[in-house]
Amino acid sequence: MKITIDGPVASGKTAVGRALARRIPARFLDTGMMYRAITWASIRQQIDFDNEAALSELTKELSIEVILEDGEQILKVNGIDVTDELRHADIESNVSKISRIGEVRSELVNQQRDIASTGDIVMVGRDIGTVVIPEADLKIYLDASIQIRAKRRHDEMRRKGHRIDLEKLVEEIKTRDNMDSNRKDSPLMSAKDAVIINTDRLRIDQVVNLILESIKKS
Ligand code: DC
Repeated sequence: MKITIDGPVASGKTAVGRALARRIPARFLDTGMMYRAITWASIRQQIDFDNEAALSELTKELSIEVILEDGEQILKVNGIDVTDELRHADIESNVSKISRIGEVRSELVNQQRDIASTGDIVMVGRDIGTVVIPEADLKIYLDASIQIRAKRRHDEMRRKGHRIDLEKLVEEIKTRDNMDSNRKDSPLMSAKDAVIINTDRLRIDQVVNLILESIKKS
């Protein structure tokens, strides 16, 4: 059983995907973390975000180890556990610049296909149903209005003790959506045969139940 969940920033993909994987049960992979890992390494190595050749070389050389355990995901770069650092603001604001690079994408897509081929999985991202595993058993596209997505991300950040202005967050999310949706290589879009779920008025468990119903029907 392979299930893909795609959608824009803060549409609930990760929370839903993780909860769904526990219920099935299946492994869970948040592919955004892999693009974040490349961003983390490029900042550390001071590689310019416009230097596509160096960034694609970095992606090929880097050992990204994704450890999937009990629905949780640990990410190691060259042996270092960087999981907690991947949500920091400097990664957040730069990852879309890295994920638009074709050669970075093709290398990571190959790694994602290898992971998918080894068993049941719920895989979350932007191009999973369209490019990575178009043959998946079920494809979901999650969406929500920009205000709701910004509010959720705002609440999440406050819980973690970070203060950020809501309107500033709306603008940041719009910028990232724009870059993800308008890039040349595998832009964010829903697969033709995806089940589209708007999560504006739904809790995580309600979305998970809707997906489980779709699995039964498929
Ligand atoms: O889902 P996220 O916010 O962690 O994603 C981080 C970035 O990576 C975002 O700019 C979109 C990009 N991404 C992508 O292009 N393809 C994926 N399969 C997953 C993420």
